[in-house]
Parts: sequence; C-alpha cells; structure tokens
Amino acid sequence: MRSSVLGSRLLFICDAAVALASSGIATASAPLTTTLNITVEDLWNLYIGPVETASINTTVEPTPIPSAELIPPPQLYYPSYLSGAQIPGQGKNESWSLPAGFWWGVSSASYQVEGAVKVDGRGPSLWDAFTHRAMSVADNQTGDVTINEYYMYKQDIQRIAAMGVKAYSFSIAWSRIFPFGNGPINEAGLKHYDDVIETCLQYGVQPQVTMYHWDLPLYIQLSYGGWTNEKIVDDFVAYTRVLLERWGNKVAQWYTFNEPISFCGEYPVPDGYFTRTTDIPDVQQPFWCGHYMLLAAGKTYQLARSMNITVPISIKNNGGYKLPRTSSDEDTEAVQRAWAFNEGWFADPLFLGDYPSRLKNFTSSFLPEFTAEERNMIKGASDYFAHDAYTAAYYMAPDVGIEGCLADANNSLYPKCYNSTYTLPASEGGWLIGPASDPNTRWLHKATEWLPAFLHYIQDTWTPANGIVITEFGMTEPFEAYKTKREDILTDPLRSAYYRDYVQAMLMAIQEGVTLVGCLAWSIADNLEWTAGFTVKFGLQYVNLTTQERYYKASFFELANLFQAYMRDSE
Ligand SMILES: *[C@@H]1O[C@H](CO)[C@@H](O)[C@H](O)[C@H]1NC(C)=O
Ligand SMILES: *[C@@H]1O[C@H](CO)[C@@H](O)[C@H](O)[C@H]1NC(C)=O
Ligand SMILES: *[C@@H]1O[C@H](CO)[C@@H](O)[C@H](O)[C@H]1NC(C)=O
Ligand SMILES: *[C@@H]1O[C@H](CO)[C@@H](O)[C@H](O)[C@H]1NC(C)=O
Ligand SMILES: *[C@@H]1O[C@H](CO)[C@@H](O)[C@H](O)[C@H]1NC(C)=O
Ligand SMILES: *[C@@H]1O[C@H](CO)[C@@H](O)[C@H](O)[C@H]1NC(C)=O
Ligand SMILES: *[C@@H]1O[C@H](CO)[C@@H](O)[C@H](O)[C@H]1NC(C)=O
Ligand SMILES: *[C@@H]1O[C@H](CO)[C@@H](O)[C@H](O)[C@H]1NC(C)=O
Ligand SMILES: *[C@@H]1O[C@H](CO)[C@@H](O)[C@H](O)[C@H]1NC(C)=O
Repeated sequence: MRSSVLGSRLLFICDAAVALASSGIATASAPLTTTLNITVEDLWNLYIGPVETASINTTVEPTPIPSAELIPPPQLYYPSYLSGAQIPGQGKNESWSLPAGFWWGVSSASYQVEGAVKVDGRGPSLWDAFTHRAMSVADNQTGDVTINEYYMYKQDIQRIAAMGVKAYSFSIAWSRIFPFGNGPINEAGLKHYDDVIETCLQYGVQPQVTMYHWDLPLYIQLSYGGWTNEKIVDDFVAYTRVLLERWGNKVAQWYTFNEPISFCGEYPVPDGYFTRTTDIPDVQQPFWCGHYMLLAAGKTYQLARSMNITVPISIKNNGGYKLPRTSSDEDTEAVQRAWAFNEGWFADPLFLGDYPSRLKNFTSSFLPEFTAEERNMIKGASDYFAHDAYTAAYYMAPDVGIEGCLADANNSLYPKCYNSTYTLPASEGGWLIGPASDPNTRWLHKATEWLPAFLHYIQDTWTPANGIVITEFGMTEPFEAYKTKREDILTDPLRSAYYRDYVQAMLMAIQEGVTLVGCLAWSIADNLEWTAGFTVKFGLQYVNLTTQERYYKASFFELANLFQAYMRDSE
C-alpha cells in the first residue's frame, strides 16, 4: 500500500539549517532558516540508508494453535514458597487472592517488535538512526525486521489469548502516524493500528496503548533537537490528539510515556551523526527533556478529559527498589538522592505537585518553576502509579562523599551524586543482591523478595489515589542467545522462578494492604533489546528469527498458572 505522504513532495521549514549540514545538502551559510522540500523517502536515503526487508510481508492470518503446544512443562525446580505451582489450584496459599477486576498482560514496544520500518509510509525514528548509524549496537542489529510484528500481530494476539492473557500492551510508532513528527498525517499508519486494536478486542484481550516508547520521529530530532526544545510539546499533543480522536475509549488504558528516565537519559544525543541543535549544556539536557515531557503529558491528559475520554491514562515510570549499602548516614542519604533523581523526578510533580527538593537544588538554576496552571495540569496526569519495577540495588555515597561530589561538576556521578551496586560490602561477604540475569543486562538481578517493600514505599510516599500498576517486569535467562536447541531455550528456570516469586511477592503485598490493580510482563516474545540487540532475551515466547515461528517458553506457563490459581472465579 502506498500512502499519499510517500507520493507527494512536501515543504518543510527547518529552523536550524545545521540540522541538515551533515547530509551534504547545500545549506545557506548565513541565514538561520532554510527551506527544504523533502519526502519521507529522501529522509530515509539521507539519514539512514538501505534497510532490510522481511520475506513475510503480508499480514499473517492466525492458524489454530496445536493442542500439544498448550501442554505445560513438568516442574522445573523446588519452590521456596509452596509446591505444585505448575498445577493450577494445587498448593495455593489460601491467604492470598487477587482483587476483583485485577488484570494481567504482556507487553511490547513498536521499535522492538514491529519491523517493516519503511512500510506504508513510516518515517525514520531516532532509533533507526541509533541502530543504523549513531550507536554501537550488539552485532550491528537493527529493528528493520526484528520479530515482524507488523505482519504477525493477528497470530501473536491469538497465541496470548490461548494462554489466558487478559491484556496486551503495545506502543504506537509516532512516525507511522506523522512520518515527520508534525505536518501531514499518514492514514495507512492509523489503519494498521485500527486492526491491531480490533484484533485484540476480537480475542477478548484488552488493548493497552503507549503513545511514546522512545521512537521519536527523526525529523523532529534533526530540525529542532527533539525533547530539548519546547516546540515538542505542541507537536506531541497534535499527535496524541489524533490517537485520542481515533481510539479514545476503545483502548482499555493509555500510557502517554514509557520510562522518561531512560529516554531523557539519551540526551545529549551522540556526537558525530547528530549535528548539535541546542546550546543547552550536556548536564542539563535530560532535565529539560523531563520538563517538556511532563508538560506534554499534562496537556494530553487534560485534552483527553476534555474529549470525555474516561479510560485510565498513566505514565510508565521506572526504577528498582533502593537499599542503603551500609547503615551509614551517607548511604542513607544516597538512597534518598536516588529516589529523588529516579522515581521522584516524575512521580513528585505527578502525585505531589513539584519536583523533589534534592533535584530542584540542581535544576532550579536553569529550569523555570512550574506556573500554578502547569502544576495543576501535571498533578494528577497519571491515574495510576505505573511502574516498570524489575529489580533492586544497593545505593551508597560516591567515593569522595556526597558533598565532595556536589562541589565537583567533573565528578562522573554529578549532579546525582549517589553510587550504586548489586553487591554487599566485602566486610559482609560481597554477595549479590540476587541471581544475575544475562551478562548483557547487568542492571537486572532477581531480587523479588524486595517487591513488597517497594510497593509499600510507593504507596506510602506518593499515595496514588487509584493504586499501583506494574507495567513491566521480566528477566533475561542467562546465555539464552547462545543456545541452539529449541528445547534448551524453552526450558528457562531462572525466568520461571522470577515470575513465580514475583507474583507471589505481589500477592503478599496485596494481602498486606497494597492497592495493586494489574500487571504486565515484559515481554510477549523475544525482541530487539535496544543496543543489546538480540543478544539478550526477555520473551515469554522464543522467536526463531530465521522462520519467525513462535514457541511458548516454560515461564509463560508458570505465569499463566499463577494467575489462573489466584484470579477470582468470576474473572
Ligand atoms: C518540491 O519539489 C518538487 C519536485 O522537485 C516540486 O515539484 C514542488 O513544486 C516543490 N514544492 C515546493 C513547495 O517547493
Ligand atoms: C515480499 O516478499 C517477497 C518474497 O517473500 C518478495 O518477492 C517481494 O518483493 C516482497 N515485497 C515487498 C513489497 O517487499
Ligand atoms: C501464605 O501467605 C501468608 C501471608 O502472606 C504468608 O505469611 C505465608 O508465609 C504464606 N505461606 C506460604 C507457605 O508461602
Ligand atoms: C558492524 O559494522 C562495522 C562497521 O560497518 C563492521 O566493521 C563490523 O564488522 C560489523 N560487525 C558485525 C558483527 O557485522
Ligand atoms: C462531554 O460531556 C459533557 C457532559 O456530558 C458534554 O456537555 C460535552 O459536550 C462533552 N464533550 C465532548 C467533546 O464530547
Ligand atoms: C543545595 O545543596 C547544597 C549542598 O548540599 C546545600 O548547601 C544548599 O543549601 C542546597 N540548596 C538548596 C536551595 O536547597
Ligand atoms: C562507584 O562505586 C564503585 C564500586 O562499586 C567504585 O569503584 C567507583 O569508584 C564509585 N564511583 C565514584 C565516582 O565514586
Ligand atoms: C573540570 O575539568 C575542567 C577541564 O578538565 C577544568 O577546567 C575545570 O576547572 C574542572 N572543574 C572543576 C569544578 O573541578
Ligand atoms: C530455526 O529455524 C531454522 C530454519 O528452519 C532451523 O534450522 C533452526 O534449527 C531453528 N532454530 C531453533 C533453535 O530451533
């Protein structure tokens, strides 16, 4: 299908002539404004180059799942809590139950799963540039094809429905809807997601949609610096208006943003490929990004309410539980700084009304104060405390102490001025906080026993009126990418133990009074793990990248059985 956007030539004004300088296009040397007349195809050719295409390039119609594929594996290990978790209803802890209306699901993100990057008028995104040109990605892998979800979604939605999954959380690629981020709308992109949403509804799976999961339209980055420029607020809201008008209450939940801590941490973008489009000092750029993100989220939230859209709208925050490495005052303070510069950065404005004081101490010299109107718009713009809560870590003061770090802008930890680790001090044996995941996801350890404390901390600190949702949790099985036999891959004991212990920790927290209303496991299937490429696997399903065939891993049965055991009968 060809989109009208592809066919027509369009006029774009580029404020910063420098943006295109690296392309070799002649730009006027003196004026700050230049007029460009480029198509989506030109953008691809100038900034990305050739892309791979898939041999499966039409929508795959679902075929029935052979009943043998739905047979759970035998038990893989000796559970610490109770036995028989593989057999629904057996060995259930009668003290535990999931609240009425509780939902569970699996998740994905557009750039990681879709592939078909140039199909139906999609414009290039920041991540096409990162993987092809600007960043070092394991084995030079890209999202050009990945697991071809753009064509496989019907089969994949059927496969999760067959496992009893209640919700599928996916993201929309902004550059499929607005190939340039702003300007002309691409109807073919909208039609694609029409069908993804319809297919979910047809299979009784709630569609939960993230509006922004990092794949910024590249044109917006090149022309004005993306999230470092205030212009993005209006461009984002123009984009989200289109989504809200199209799907509004049809989607079960909206998430405006995924993990702003992570994507704001991409600023400053790497030198070389990107030409500098901003004078903002490097150390400040993430905080400007966060500021505009909050304004864009607040405006989108208010817009949705003005359109009588009543479904929950939240922001997915991220971070692990934080423990002081020692009982020293400095390490205790390091933990407080870590909450402030991670969760608090966004959760404080959203739930309490302003940035945390420890963060403001740094940002107040350059970021404007929120006006009263902005403050009111942002406070309440996340219905749930939506958290990607994978793990836990120990926090401690920098080697030179917190004050020493705060006084030295050259300290590698400045301005956060806390340090972290996964091991206890040598004096306590130097042991890990929990089993390590794959060596290419060093940040991730199985530390599920800290989850109840984590959920209590969130509930007590930010008192979210509608409760908490865990929007991502998951594990990379160590060295899974090196396995060559399918049965070896499908038997994933660490991931299975992680999901079992995680869900039991959730149940314990619920029993203790935490308001947890739902959760989403990462991920529906193996996919492109950003700069780690395909070297690490988060999937509940294995994907053979040669054939694009999917297979359920043992952990998927573990997870499904837990919910079957603890879900109320009526659900
Ligand atoms: C853009 O370029 C095309 C092809 O060169 C041309 O036909 C069209 O008139 C140009 N549009 C503008 C607004 O300059
Ligand atoms: C679709 O894939 C087939 C091979 O499976 C190939 O011959 C054809 O050119 C592809 N079409 C497009 C538009 O990429
Ligand atoms: C059952 O749940 C209760 C309450 O959370 C907990 O104290 C107890 O340890 C659990 N029992 C088992 C065997 O896991
Ligand atoms: C990745 O790309 C670089 C630069 O083109 C090349 O030197 C290298 O051999 C490639 N690595 C792999 C694993 O293909
Ligand atoms: C929203 O609902 C209110 C009250 O029912 C109504 O007055 C208003 O026109 C509706 N607005 C839109 C945009 O549908
Ligand atoms: C910011 O932190 C420094 C160093 O701890 C402290 O001296 C100063 O009083 C703080 N300023 C504000 C405005 O909190
Ligand atoms: C952070 O902690 C590690 C030990 O885990 C240490 O080697 C490193 O020097 C510390 N960094 C700073 C800047 O204090
Ligand atoms: C940081 O390093 C630069 C150059 O390396 C130096 O000029 C500057 O004085 C240092 N700043 C501080 C606060 O030490
Ligand atoms: C993936 O598919 C290819 C082609 O059929 C096959 O050769 C390979 O063994 C499969 N890999 C696994 C791990 O099953």
